[in-house]
Amino acid sequence: MSLPSPDQFLLRVLVVDDSEFDTELMLRQLRRDGLEPAAERVCTADSMARALDNGSWDVVLCDYSMPGFSGAEALQLLRDTGKDIPFLLVTGTIGEEAAVSMMKAGAQDFLLKDHASRLAPAIRREMREAQGRRQQREDARARVDSQRELEAANRQLRQLSGKIMQVQELERELLSRGLHDDVGQALTGLQLQLEALRRRATNPADLKGIEDSVQIVGQVLAQVRDLSLDLRPPQLDLLGLAAALRWYADRKVAAVPGLSLRFQAETLPALHADVETMCFRIVQEAMTNIQRHAQASQVAITVSHNGSQLEVMVADNGRGFDVRETYERAVRGESLGVLNMQERASLVGGKVEVQSRPGDTRVMIRLPGAPPGATQKLRILQPPPSARDKA
Ligand SMILES: Nc1ncnc2c1ncn2[C@@H]1O[C@H](COP(=O)(O)OP(=O)(O)O)[C@@H](O)[C@H]1O
Ligand SMILES: [Mg+2]
Repeated sequence: MSLPSPDQFLLRVLVVDDSEFDTELMLRQLRRDGLEPAAERVCTADSMARALDNGSWDVVLCDYSMPGFSGAEALQLLRDTGKDIPFLLVTGTIGEEAAVSMMKAGAQDFLLKDHASRLAPAIRREMREAQGRRQQREDARARVDSQRELEAANRQLRQLSGKIMQVQELERELLSRGLHDDVGQALTGLQLQLEALRRRATNPADLKGIEDSVQIVGQVLAQVRDLSLDLRPPQLDLLGLAAALRWYADRKVAAVPGLSLRFQAETLPALHADVETMCFRIVQEAMTNIQRHAQASQVAITVSHNGSQLEVMVADNGRGFDVRETYERAVRGESLGVLNMQERASLVGGKVEVQSRPGDTRVMIRLPGAPPGATQKLRILQPPPSARDKA
């Protein structure tokens, strides 16, 4: 915001002075110096308070001593309103000590009535400074506002991404069960039928076709089972996090020739279902990266807890990578796995730290036992009915 310069507009002056004559002299001098003062004169605390309440002022010109009122009291009165209006003491005489104490109390300047020509420049200067202060306050307010908006947008984004992950987990669970129960059972039925046909077949050409079909159905069944397990391993609900991780890592490592696994897990305290799910998903992402990128021969997973905090480390001895550059690429939307790990962790109030150099890559996952503010009911995932009871 920029105000017109004091020369171009009416200067609203509150004069605190008991002398009408002195006031008139002052105003005349201001007019001579190019200002256009619109003034009101008061000389008691009451009338000054009223004027401050009702009017809006550019400057207060105040006498030092008046009958029944003083410059010091006037200054205090102005300060009590909290308004940032320049306060200039304009007085016939003032002792040095009094002047110093008035300046200390916040008067912007003091001028002698005999030197009236100093008044206009002082007013211009003080108004410029007051305008600068106003601008600073506005800038600070704008900064606070935009900071608040940013924080609110971040909160919304986080809620949204939490919601998306929640929906994703539910979808995965439904798909997983659908694949396992419906597709899996249908394929198993088909397999049994083909087996029966094979036993009855006499024509060698038929037999060959049936045998091929049995093999294909067997492969599809295995793929469907793998898919279903990847989508939502029942071990997580049935056996808890550590066992599910072990089972998952064993399977994953077995699929990569030349890769071996060292797995260590402490007995864990009870963890919130969301934390278990998030941790599992993060390890899944880390293991998929090892399988796809690391060219490692060893994976080490350690599962431990430090009081109420869950700590899981996934380490490999592969070729390593530039973590910083990967984050930069992730921010540009080019690869999301590593960022996704962080996001999942932060959704339950935890952190993922990745360190990497050739031969030593570590993904360190630290999660609280429960997401902040969560109750056991607030689970991302409803376990399959009675799954946990059966465990
Ligand atoms: N364990 C690892 N060993 C070597 N490189 C890795 C490892 N994990 C991640 N990377 C590197 O970081 C990149 C980003 O990983 P990520 O964000 O999961 O995306 P994506 O797996 O889709 O490429 C990978 O392309 C790979 O170059
Ligand atoms: Mg990845």
